[in-house]
Amino acid sequence: MRKLTLLASVAVSLLLAGCAKEQKETLSVIPVPLSADLQKGAFQLNDQTKLWIDAPQEDKTRLADYIAGSPFQLDAALEEVVDNVVILQQVDRLPDITSSEGYVLEVTPKQVKIRAASGAGLFYGVQTFLQMVNEKKELPVGTVTDEPRFAYRGMMLDPCRHFIPVENVKKQLDVLSLFKINTFHWHLTDDQGWRIEIKKYPKLTEIGSKRIDGEGTEYGGFYTQEEIKDIVAYAAERFITVIPELETPGHELAAISAYPELSCKGQPTTPRIIWGVEDIVMCPGKEDMFKFLEDVVEEMVPLFPGTYFHIGGDECPKSSWKNCPACQARIKAEGLKTDKNHTAEERLQSYVIQRMEKMLAKHGKKIIGWDEILEGGLSPEATVMSWRGEAGGIASALQDHDAIMTPGGNGMYLDTFQGDSKIEPVSIGGYTLLEKVYSYNPVPDTLVTLGKDKHIKGVQANHWSEYMYNTDIMEYRMYPRMLAVSEIAWTPLDKKDYKDFERRINNAYVRLDGHDVNYHIPQP
Ligand code: ACM
Ligand code: ZN
Repeated sequence: MRKLTLLASVAVSLLLAGCAKEQKETLSVIPVPLSADLQKGAFQLNDQTKLWIDAPQEDKTRLADYIAGSPFQLDAALEEVVDNVVILQQVDRLPDITSSEGYVLEVTPKQVKIRAASGAGLFYGVQTFLQMVNEKKELPVGTVTDEPRFAYRGMMLDPCRHFIPVENVKKQLDVLSLFKINTFHWHLTDDQGWRIEIKKYPKLTEIGSKRIDGEGTEYGGFYTQEEIKDIVAYAAERFITVIPELETPGHELAAISAYPELSCKGQPTTPRIIWGVEDIVMCPGKEDMFKFLEDVVEEMVPLFPGTYFHIGGDECPKSSWKNCPACQARIKAEGLKTDKNHTAEERLQSYVIQRMEKMLAKHGKKIIGWDEILEGGLSPEATVMSWRGEAGGIASALQDHDAIMTPGGNGMYLDTFQGDSKIEPVSIGGYTLLEKVYSYNPVPDTLVTLGKDKHIKGVQANHWSEYMYNTDIMEYRMYPRMLAVSEIAWTPLDKKDYKDFERRINNAYVRLDGHDVNYHIPQP
């Protein structure tokens, strides 16, 4: 019989808090659950403890495999038992829970029982359970009732400026799933590097994935389609959906380097070797440019089974379009006129996004774009990702479009300093302490007042990698700030408490250590 094993990475919560009376002092879980009612007594795990999963086959296999790879390896029970067992039970619905991702976790001295209306709910119950077990393999008797505040709990990685190897992407998925993050936005194309294999356009990776860095060395990397499938499957085992981003129509110098005819002038160029915004962009005057995007989309869509596809849309300088006969002809043909709100070129950007939306709708996908997609008029079904403050998210919700909040100024850009810049590794600038990240509320009061808050689907933190030269620095910037993001994404506002978060984070550090994460330790 396999031994029930407990790695050092698992939970120290009870010892820290075993004699306390209130929930706040007794649970050391991140994100803090909706409600917890704990009593005296404990369930003791031992090497006889069994696992019983009652769920549809696909979820049953996923959960059994996940638990087998966790610090606990529980033998499956051969029949339903009630003593010394951890039970995961999928039910039609749970009273008092509205989200399909919610769960109820009941601990008695005889058993741990997690009930949920979906595999994801059971998975989140398992995460709470794993964080509740202490180093004596006990967890307190009581009931945790829990569900997320937001359906979209995201993090974005940027392998374009600095590449992130497959194994490290998986590591981040592993770690973030512990904290109930459910969406991985993968920024796969940009001026400084094209990072996804497209079989019909081999030069995208042969040429577009490589740049000559300042010191004269070649820098490159890309994911094969097989690697992408592997990562998407790995994410799905952790109930994380992967949203790919294909930048349009700006931020595409790497693709234009491979296929110069994609730009207005068609001049030869190279992937950008400095950071910042590139003036050479794609030419929406040319029908072949749309054919290219259609072909790329056709290869990307089957790799990403989720509903959403991110089409970029940010920071597209329009000067080349102003001077391009093909773009101007398109503006004329489509009747895109300058008015007091938008220039003709802004409307041309909107034309590109609307074509992307139609192109993706044929594949059953919905688009997300950065908040510039509001300029020139929003596509009919688009979801806006608000990054230049909250204004884009608010404008989107007021137009009855969904939005995801990721405003840099409110602490959602984790490429900033989080300590004294004299001793921190170089960053793009700005200063975002853990407490600032934690204090962000993704739902602006104005939207609540106007009854439009339901359009805020969630929140995301972005890890732009210009100054994340390697994955150690990336992790240093991500953690522990991503744990604060997890709590603002999951926990109801009235349950948030920074002082208590600071106490609970000690338990989380043990977990980060277990995954060998190079996290930042906040300075006093
Ligand atoms: C962005 O930071 N350009 C979305
Ligand atoms: Zn053009």
